[in-house]
Amino acid sequence: MDRIRIVGGKELHGTIPISGAKNAALPLMIAALLTPETLTLENVPRLVDVRLLMRILSNHGVDYAIDGKRPGDAPIAGQTLHLSAKNIVDTTAPYELVSRMRASFWVLGPLVARMGQAKVSLPGGCAIGTRPVDFLLMAMEKLGASIDIEGGYVLASAPKGLRGAEINFPKVTVGGTHTALMAAVLAKGHSLIRNAAREPEVTDLANCLIAMGAKIKGAGTSEIEIEGVSGLGGARYEVLPDRIETGTFAIAAAMTGGDVMLERARPELLQSALDMIEKAGARVTSTNEGIRVTRNGSGISPVDVETAPFPGFPTDLQAQFMALMTRARGTSRMTETIFENRFMHVAELSRFGAHIRLEDDSAIIEGVERLKGAPVMATDLRASVSLVIAALAAEGESMIHRVYHLDRGFEQLEQKLGACGAIVERVSEPG
Ligand code: EPZ
Repeated sequence: MDRIRIVGGKELHGTIPISGAKNAALPLMIAALLTPETLTLENVPRLVDVRLLMRILSNHGVDYAIDGKRPGDAPIAGQTLHLSAKNIVDTTAPYELVSRMRASFWVLGPLVARMGQAKVSLPGGCAIGTRPVDFLLMAMEKLGASIDIEGGYVLASAPKGLRGAEINFPKVTVGGTHTALMAAVLAKGHSLIRNAAREPEVTDLANCLIAMGAKIKGAGTSEIEIEGVSGLGGARYEVLPDRIETGTFAIAAAMTGGDVMLERARPELLQSALDMIEKAGARVTSTNEGIRVTRNGSGISPVDVETAPFPGFPTDLQAQFMALMTRARGTSRMTETIFENRFMHVAELSRFGAHIRLEDDSAIIEGVERLKGAPVMATDLRASVSLVIAALAAEGESMIHRVYHLDRGFEQLEQKLGACGAIVERVSEPG
């Protein structure tokens, strides 16, 4: 098992290329199940979650090829995946695979839409709350699937095919919207998704489905209309840049001070977070190249933040922003409205000397003058990277254990930070 050693106190200066978005790449890869033709995805990040999903898809019969790196490619360039689900040989997604990554549960929609049946294990994923799938099952039932749960598996069937329906989500759900979209594109007739997630990753999926021949209107708004078609074809599609990786490095630069260019980052994907980073005292400017973040000399100001569905402040940046607030000149409050148990990083941040207390769904952070390096434990993907951010600003050495969480969602994290002057290295843990 690897760990990461960081010696804090260095400003970040340089350029960080932003990778393709994990949370867009995963549903786009799953969309390959909807067509017998080849779906080619460009700018796919090299991540553990992507590799795991390739295993899950190949279990269903998807053939895949990965274009290798060519001479002249940038050192951190996304990979191109060719996915071909000509023959779906198995409609079961087993516990051993699905329990390791929640997003793999989303194969349910396309499998039922194309094959009329699926057996998918109930999911696992990061430990950030109970994370039920009731909305996803409700959407499938509305579209005409019958659903049973047996032995930890969801058994879904629609032998005569799915039919268009109105789906009204009681709460905004990204995975529910992905599932409903991927099922409705092949359903007979018209569907309407109300209270749909407006996250850029949903729009990316809809745009790819449109390129494959689907009829979809309104993606990016809270009402999406779909006119079912009898089949979809292949397409070539480029995954959008990762807004959570962008926000994470922007917060890291705000934390350490310095001057960082986030290459290929797009401000409209995370405007609410950029606004908060500016309020905290960093300067954020958009250029043709990407987003530049600087903080020179000025201290960090306390900012109250509440997470919300897009276009609000993303829950996936809550832990990182909390790390920044630990060094603010004053007290701030972070309220988590999406997941009920997403404060696992609080105890670990306290090991650096941070002053944080929890009050219901909020964390109250009293900024301290300095953080001190410490051994800490990564608990989930975004929490782990908040520890990296704290360690970059802490005095002395920190050791972050269980970094496999980081490898699920951050491509070449140490290389990207190291290239900007951070002292960061991966060491293999004995045993
Ligand atoms: C996606 O998870 C992301 N994952 C999460 O990122 C992200 O935090 C989340 O959306 C919110 O933005 C991927 O895209 C792979 P939801 P998802 O359904 O789709 C409740 C990361 O670190 N809910 O939008 O699983 C749920 O409990 C991950 O990259 C139900 O009650 O999230 C939560 O409170 C972590 N019933 C809320 O809705 C359901 O059937 C929103 O969850 C479904 C969801």
